[in-house]
Amino acid sequence: MVVEIAPSMLAADCSRLGDECRSIAEAGAHRVHWDVMDGVFVPNLTFGPDVVAACRPLVDLPFEAHLMVVKPDELAPLYVEAGCETVLIHAETCPHLHRSLDAISETGARCGVVINPHTPASSISEVIGMIDEVLVMTVNPGFGGQRYIASVESKIAAVRAMIDASGRDIDLEVDGGITAATAPAAVAAGANVLVAGSAVFGHSEGPAIAIKELVSSV
Ligand code: DX5
Ligand code: ZN
Repeated sequence: MVVEIAPSMLAADCSRLGDECRSIAEAGAHRVHWDVMDGVFVPNLTFGPDVVAACRPLVDLPFEAHLMVVKPDELAPLYVEAGCETVLIHAETCPHLHRSLDAISETGARCGVVINPHTPASSISEVIGMIDEVLVMTVNPGFGGQRYIASVESKIAAVRAMIDASGRDIDLEVDGGITAATAPAAVAAGANVLVAGSAVFGHSEGPAIAIKELVSSV
């Protein structure tokens, strides 16, 4: 299985976001992960669509928006317009998840569901036929640099089994506390996309070495 690396811009130098996008593209990243926080669903506030749109022309990599917001239906189209090929919404914020996913697909973007550490794998079972990606949180969302929650691995395996049984081409991404030490178990459980913030942007030898270490760890 080919494993992709999606550096999280949350850990980038916010005074130089464009340069940071270019630097991870040169370093071999496979996609750019934008952590969008509204200060309500999570106690932190980050990138608006204009920030994402300003960085869009600088690199060829796919952009994905991870929406940690209480109003994903209102905000999702703005991030598609900003140039995100994929929009990921939390199951916990969507009482009408089927409708919300449908609306994203209708824009032409890829859609995906994110589940928090406490949210069971079964919460995606009825929408597996309409999604392109599942993101299993390996920390509680809101901040970078948190400790990886290893007990989530059994859920990663359960989601992998659901994806394989569906016969569809669905990415299984993990996000939070991913390093060269934690990635092997997450990938062994079935993940094929690794979001990494601190491990990429905080590496003392730079993002290229960081990405190489992540790729060769799995
Ligand atoms: C957490 C975010 C993550 C986070 C990952 O709310 O969704 O993408 O930035 O950061 P690290 O890799 O530092 O745990
Ligand atoms: Zn994220």
